Amino acid sequence: MTSSDRGQFTSRFGFIMAAAGSAVGLGNVWGFPTQTATNGGAAFLLVYLFMMALLAFPMLIAELTIGRYGQSNPIASLRKIWVKNKPVAAMFGVIALLTASMILSFYAILAGWLIGFGLAPIADVIGLNGVADWLVTFGTARNVSLTVLFMLMTVFVVRRGVSDGIEKWSSRLMPVLFVLFIALIGYIFTQDGAMDGLEMYLVPKWNHLNASLVVNAMGQAFFSLSLGVGAMMVYGSYLSKDINIPKTAGQVAIIDTGVAFMAGLLILPAMFVAKENGVQIFNELGELISSGNLVFVVLPALFDSMGLAGEVIGIAFFALMVIAALTSSIAMLEVPVSCLQEEAKMSRNKATKILGGTILLCSAIIAANFNALFDLVATASTVYMQPLLGVVWAVVLGWIWSRNSLLEEIRQGNPEIEQTWFWKIWPWYVKFVCPAAILIVFAYPFL
Ligand code: TRP
Repeated sequence: MTSSDRGQFTSRFGFIMAAAGSAVGLGNVWGFPTQTATNGGAAFLLVYLFMMALLAFPMLIAELTIGRYGQSNPIASLRKIWVKNKPVAAMFGVIALLTASMILSFYAILAGWLIGFGLAPIADVIGLNGVADWLVTFGTARNVSLTVLFMLMTVFVVRRGVSDGIEKWSSRLMPVLFVLFIALIGYIFTQDGAMDGLEMYLVPKWNHLNASLVVNAMGQAFFSLSLGVGAMMVYGSYLSKDINIPKTAGQVAIIDTGVAFMAGLLILPAMFVAKENGVQIFNELGELISSGNLVFVVLPALFDSMGLAGEVIGIAFFALMVIAALTSSIAMLEVPVSCLQEEAKMSRNKATKILGGTILLCSAIIAANFNALFDLVATASTVYMQPLLGVVWAVVLGWIWSRNSLLEEIRQGNPEIEQTWFWKIWPWYVKFVCPAAILIVFAYPFL
């Protein structure tokens, strides 16, 4: 298959929206504010910014560059670089696609709940109170039905391909996400209590700074840029050769970080507005209520306390969350789809439906055995597999790929790069510093 058959992003803007869409997800809108609230506010924020710039960003450039060089799915791209050991290269590609599928299988369940919480106020307004209750009450039937709905949305986009599906929908949805964010932040700031939240967010409590905060910040940055599982690699493979990769990756990282920062501006003040309205946000020990409850208990209670305005705000908030989740889930599904399509020479339509169905089945199994499986799958894929695969990509780029071939690839779209400080530092940095830093994250739980 030649590269022209496989689709391409049609513009730099489209690529940035798609890649930022992959990066901006529940990790930003939910994970980041929760971590910040429980880890000393700006103390966490500052360490996170550091990790983003020093670890995640160089790795984002690495994944995009490997993908663009390959002009193919992650399995084939890795094989093309690791010519001396193609079976091992292919094996890592397969592990990446399995990990991406695992992430999608639990992410789709969470996204299903968000759909439920977004539809519930609508059901309430039209008088279907029983339905509204069902939508927000934990149960296997609800969990599975809403996951099916979310997976259908993901398949709907991915089966249309790179420019007509992924690029088009990311370019439509990401601006909506920004507008919803700004509107919600603007509204929350008019409410009593918001300033307390802002203070908690922006005044660093340095007594929280310790090794585990640093490790959490690193893991969060890595998760947030969708690194490790080949998603950025496959998006990179749809990038044309005249794009300046380091610059474009910088813009993606800035959007991702900016959205995480905005999520903090929304969620932390909202928590204190909720407190002002009588919602409990701290437990008896004075600790913040757990992260799941923050989004599914504290915020809905806040919206309830706001009357009709609260219904509208609730719908907007959960719509925002579903959009963030959808632009990430299409990137996750694209990893196995591109592999099946190209390696097994299958049509995209068929590959998307088969894989969407298979991953949905995994989601249903997880949903039916929720307590036993959910945390297990989430932890195995994001805490262990993502960082470990990141080490593999750093090794592939730094130790296996020849420096000249790497230079030739990255020079396209950036002819002067050889003279820049970037080229003097980055390959060395990805070769030594990134794998070492990621291994520290990985090793920490065992220490
Ligand atoms: N970055 C996404 C978020 O912040 C989550 C994510 C992790 C992801 N790994 C991924 C998205 C792989 C797409 C592909 O929620």
